[in-house]
Amino acid sequence: MAYDKRQAAEEFARWSESYDRCVLQWLLFGPSHRALIKRIEAVAGRKPISVLDIGCGTGLFASRLQAALPESRVVGLDLVAGMLAMGERRWRYHEETVFPVQGDSERLPFAAGSFDFITCANSFHHYPNQEQAVAEMHRVLKPGGRLLLIDGYRDAPWGWFIYDVCVTYREGNVHHASSRRFREILDRAGFQAVAQKVHRGFAPFLLNEAVAAEPIPAFSGPHFRVRSPSSVAQRSES
Ligand SMILES: C[S@@+](CC[C@H](N)C(=O)[O-])C[C@H]1O[C@@H](n2cnc3c(N)ncnc32)[C@H](O)[C@@H]1O
Repeated sequence: MAYDKRQAAEEFARWSESYDRCVLQWLLFGPSHRALIKRIEAVAGRKPISVLDIGCGTGLFASRLQAALPESRVVGLDLVAGMLAMGERRWRYHEETVFPVQGDSERLPFAAGSFDFITCANSFHHYPNQEQAVAEMHRVLKPGGRLLLIDGYRDAPWGWFIYDVCVTYREGNVHHASSRRFREILDRAGFQAVAQKVHRGFAPFLLNEAVAAEPIPAFSGPHFRVRSPSSVAQRSES
């Protein structure tokens, strides 16, 4: 049976209370958050930036990013109200700079070209329509904006065992995309400069990085003179 959003909502409503204390914080979520922050710091430096964190859960990454880059503005979006509610203390602490929004990754409630960065950590395998989610990410990024998308790396035997066997057994029919599939989806959505980096470890993960395409420059008028039909006729008669 295909995985659906109702399953995700039920799973995370159950998990929300113990989520911040689970062992995966140490094995996977913490290391993936550090990889994202390092990359954003390398690209943006200390510039003020706007970031959308999709599948933000209890807001741990959003608050870590804000602490590392105090000039940033972070919107955390999650499908499950219970996960956002568990981050209440964090949203309040950063109330001027970090904003929770309940919503679906496949229908982002933002105007086109709204963000400098989009991050998405450990959430993508829950999206039933992954192509639609990536198309939405492309739409709400500013032209030249950057997507940093992390999910479990399942292309080598150990990762396959963890994600396609153990996680699938526990979470249901979730789908960890292969690195090749990530490339296909990103290319199809119009992303450029796609780069991928595997982080090894007990829970290996893949960081996909890509840049939203610049729009094609608007046509600014003819760069050549158009001769009128009568002048063409006169020349050919002479
Ligand atoms: C494993 S948690 C990861 C949380 C956080 N990104 C982190 O790294 O700690 C996955 C999150 O994705 C959210 N999620 C699942 N499906 C979603 C969807 N369609 N749209 C937005 N969020 C979704 C879940 O509610 C959950 O909070």
